[in-house]
Amino acid sequence: MSGTHDQAPATHAAAEAHDAHEGPIKTPKQLIAAVFFAFVIPIAVLVLAANYVSSDVKPAAGSDITDAEAVAARIQRVGAIELKDLSSPAAFRSGEEIFKAQCAACHATGTLGAPKFGDADAWGPRVKTGFEALLHSALKGKGAMPPQEGGDASDFELARAVVYMANNGGAKFDEPKAPVAASAASQ
Ligand code: HEC
Repeated sequence: MSGTHDQAPATHAAAEAHDAHEGPIKTPKQLIAAVFFAFVIPIAVLVLAANYVSSDVKPAAGSDITDAEAVAARIQRVGAIELKDLSSPAAFRSGEEIFKAQCAACHATGTLGAPKFGDADAWGPRVKTGFEALLHSALKGKGAMPPQEGGDASDFELARAVVYMANNGGAKFDEPKAPVAASAASQ
């Protein structure tokens, strides 16, 4: 009897010791939870923090201040060169584009007595003077028309605009040759 009595507390103590050794994690579920809180959450926090620190300025919706192109435009060096394949007419704006951009202001309506676009009567006598004469007038100016050269349109583009306008006024001028092709042809 005393033997059993002695044994009981010992077993109890052993069980307690065992409990203490075992710690709070007793089931696989708790292990998963422990791994989660010990590793996954801190790592997630670090990732978010790193992301926050290294993220760029976040512009308002619709703003382009951080667009690669906008940045490049801001930091570009002063004075840029534009490379064009001068032998290709595609590198230049069409006569119609130049007309709309630079000539239509007067020629669309006939302002200042300009021969109106598409008006064969107004263009007829002028067309008879020939393409070179018309081009010369456009480049150097004539009467109330100021010289058209020297703007952002090249002489070739202006020549295209002259052909575009004249041909819509009854002329049958050929499309002018691109500068390099023209100089190659004249050699
Ligand atoms: C500020 C108004 C104005 C603009 C812009 C203008 N023109 Fe004219 N243009 C005139 C006037 C006015 C005349 C008539 C000049 C005259 O016969 O006295 C004219 C005449 C012409 C003629 C006939 C010239 C001749 O010898 O009879 C051509 C070709 C011509 N323009 C081409 C152009 C082209 C190409 C552009 C654009 C690149 C252009 N013009 C832009 C006002 C303008």
